[in-house]
Amino acid sequence: MKQTWWKEAVIYQIYPRSFMDSNGDGIGDLKGITSRLDYLKYLGVDVIWLSPIYKSPNDDNGYDISDYQAIMDEFGTMEDFDELLHEAHQRGLRIVMDLVVNHTSDEHKWFMESKSSADNDYRDYYIWREGKDDTQPPNNWGSCFGGPAWQYDETTKMYYLHLFSKKQPDLNWDNPKVRKNVFDMMTWWCDKGIDGFRMDVISMISKTKEMPDGKVTGFYGDYSPYCVHGPNIHRYLREMNEKVLSKYDIMTVGETPGVTTELAKQYAGEDTKELNMVFQFELVDTPGKYGKWTDEKLPLTELKKIMSRWQTELYGEAWNSLFWDNHDQPRAVSRFGNDTPKYREVSAKMLATCLHMMQGTPYIYQGEELGMTNYPFEKPSDFRDIESINAYSEWCESAGVSHEDFWPCLLFRSRDNARTPMQWDDSEEAGFTAGTPWIAVNPNYKEINAKEETANPDSVFHYYKKLIALRKLHPVIVYGKYELLLEDSKELYVYTRTSDKEKLLVVCNFSEQNTSFTIPEEFIGSPCLISNMENTYNDADIILKPYESFVLSNE
Ligand code: GLC
Ligand code: CA
Repeated sequence: MKQTWWKEAVIYQIYPRSFMDSNGDGIGDLKGITSRLDYLKYLGVDVIWLSPIYKSPNDDNGYDISDYQAIMDEFGTMEDFDELLHEAHQRGLRIVMDLVVNHTSDEHKWFMESKSSADNDYRDYYIWREGKDDTQPPNNWGSCFGGPAWQYDETTKMYYLHLFSKKQPDLNWDNPKVRKNVFDMMTWWCDKGIDGFRMDVISMISKTKEMPDGKVTGFYGDYSPYCVHGPNIHRYLREMNEKVLSKYDIMTVGETPGVTTELAKQYAGEDTKELNMVFQFELVDTPGKYGKWTDEKLPLTELKKIMSRWQTELYGEAWNSLFWDNHDQPRAVSRFGNDTPKYREVSAKMLATCLHMMQGTPYIYQGEELGMTNYPFEKPSDFRDIESINAYSEWCESAGVSHEDFWPCLLFRSRDNARTPMQWDDSEEAGFTAGTPWIAVNPNYKEINAKEETANPDSVFHYYKKLIALRKLHPVIVYGKYELLLEDSKELYVYTRTSDKEKLLVVCNFSEQNTSFTIPEEFIGSPCLISNMENTYNDADIILKPYESFVLSNE
């Protein structure tokens, strides 16, 4: 297995809109991020992934880009970006950019040209089709954010494809000019000195030419057999690798909805010359009552099965990325742990132990290192996210699901849970802004905030800091082989990591119950690297407290 810096790194994701506001307009910005670099350095992360900061009309908070080589007005200027990059590099922090090239904004100049006439030079930059007849779109596909995936355009009386909102038309990657433009733009950023790309829905860029109706699930037909891992996906990624990525010492991570371990070995294989790693969604995208919407927790035995399959099958062949949450998911502690005051801290630490001791590159989503929780939304107008807003209107207002049934699902899964402002201190608006934040601050900021947690050595923050430091000291955490123990336990997640020199035992109680456990012979008397309780683990038979977790090393 090759050893590389990005396998050994810990990544911190910033959602710029909600991280730090420097000028009191209620919106996080680049100067705000620069002002908090010392905090990230202190935490010990190596790489910052910035969610999109490019010019955008913000239909989907920057995931709808109207100019790839300019900065969103609200976030600042290109000089602010250069300063951020410089200041990050000064501190030994790398910056990874979000690359959103499955689609652009409908306000991008390519699209404005494309829709202006059927023989425009840019027409073929997007995916245009005739309707089935005068009133019907080309097929029955639905978009990810609700409604049909096709939008009729008056000017040329044709439809364009948008797998996300109608303000996010899909690019036509089969057009070599599109690929060249994208690769040139990527080269421009690489030459500026950025350190990598997180590639938005990159598994969706290649579509089949034939676009038949899809199987109806929910309200519309499913496009995935025709648009996800499409016919030329690997060819296009290898071309991107050859023309751009291979020329720089950068890291890449693909957001690849629908990926399996088999496919991951192609996308992120040691020698496949595509990407360094991919995000897989088996843990977080489990189907719910109403499409993705559910209030049910994933049973621990399922969670272990999924994690273990990825840990085992990719070993030595491809590289994992590790995450509990991101800007599209609810907060980790609310979803997989227990966010009641009694158990929030201990369960947040347990989750961190479980993930950070695995093989792969760990991702921390802003505020996760504080154990930030889901937001107590009270009414539909509290939401800002296009997906949540559309889902509520589609399921409750159109499909007639009752508010009472749908509401808990929306609360549990909404992306806005992750998007409330970073909680810096206990001053008004959690120190995020001197103005009115674009989305409300979680009312628990007086107890949960960075100022309090950096000052308290027993905090969730310091626990993350310690885990990150351990990864640097024990190569087995990065490169060791994973083995699951107690597969059938409904309470405990126990695994080992093994290298030539060292073996670790990782024990996590995912339950709210006291749970008995017998430490395997070979670890009796082994030193404890980290634990979220005061315990030395010298006896073989122990009772784990709710959410207790620890790591022993028999080095
Ligand atoms: C990805 C992003 C998500 C965005 C979507 C469309 O899934 O993570 O935030 O809405 O792509 O760009
Ligand atoms: Ca601002």
